[in-house]
Amino acid sequence: MIKKLFIIICSLMFFIISCSGGNDSDKILVGVAMPTQSSERWINDAANMKANLEKLGYAVDIQFAEDDVQTQVSQIENFIAKGVKCLVVASVDSQALVNVLDQAKNNGIPVIAYDRLLMDTDSVSYYATFDNKGVGTKIAEYIVKAKNLETAKQENRSYTVEFFMGSPDDNNALFLYNGIMEVLQPYLDNGVLVCKTGRTSFQDTCILRWSQETAQQWAENYLSGYYNNQKLDIACSAFDGFAYGIRSALEASGYKVGEDWPLISGQDAELMAIKNIISGHQTMTIFKDTRILAEKCAAMVDAVLKGGEPEINDTTQYNNNVKVVPTYLCEPIAIDKNNYQSIIVDSGYYTEEQLQVN
Ligand code: BGC
Repeated sequence: MIKKLFIIICSLMFFIISCSGGNDSDKILVGVAMPTQSSERWINDAANMKANLEKLGYAVDIQFAEDDVQTQVSQIENFIAKGVKCLVVASVDSQALVNVLDQAKNNGIPVIAYDRLLMDTDSVSYYATFDNKGVGTKIAEYIVKAKNLETAKQENRSYTVEFFMGSPDDNNALFLYNGIMEVLQPYLDNGVLVCKTGRTSFQDTCILRWSQETAQQWAENYLSGYYNNQKLDIACSAFDGFAYGIRSALEASGYKVGEDWPLISGQDAELMAIKNIISGHQTMTIFKDTRILAEKCAAMVDAVLKGGEPEINDTTQYNNNVKVVPTYLCEPIAIDKNNYQSIIVDSGYYTEEQLQVN
């Protein structure tokens, strides 16, 4: 009798646990494909996506492709085979996924582009990202203000500048470049900004797969080839990773913080970048709050899976060569030593302890 009662109680408990969502196999599975773990932002994006989707009751499978296109294709194929009901993709190469995304579409799986637009396909339903052109204009506007380029124009002064732009296979990189040039091109034209290498076009300044090593190599070559008699004043860099490479090249060339260290820009507000801003080795970065992007994207997944309409605030800018993809744009914020505390620390993105410069 006692044994029977025990079995009934155990069965009841198992039933209650199953019903309360304790068992992942009951849940709808969402596949999240991320490009790489080599840059901190994608690790944060993945963690935030997982947390937000789980909070909404989904099971989540996250894969990182380590910047290898074929790896990402296989990971998406695996997601489809596993029976995911929705795919979220931050691509390694935005043009290389056309076939595998068609497979997803043929299996009735909606696809949401995360941060990077998926190009040349109609198998993408929505896009969640930051205002990518706005990232560029904010970097450029920062440079104009920090270097007082309007005053320099009136006083016939000039500054040297070199450009380190993003990956040619990432649609964001061109948007960012266009944002930068919309603001800085007039100063290149009127001679207030002087680019001694002459490399100002997107083709000449884009760095494949956002490689820190390439940025460092370029900076070393530029400094030794063009900047022996005149210092580099501005390194207009599109990514924190580039800023680290440029820092190494400058140190090897004998530049010193507080003396002749140039203005260096970046993007992503990585922990190391904020530390470098505090120590003066980087001037600014662009904060893209991955907590907000992940929350918006997870809400999109939820709406799509429930047959609803996700929140959209841009229906014009993101044409992927096949269609204009309905998009939610989050706001990027320029960060430097004057506002990192209020925006990054006070919002709990990083703690004071994490930012201790050793
Ligand atoms: C993202 C940037 C990031 C870059 C390199 C871009 O697609 O928008 O935030 O810095 O990739 O990872």
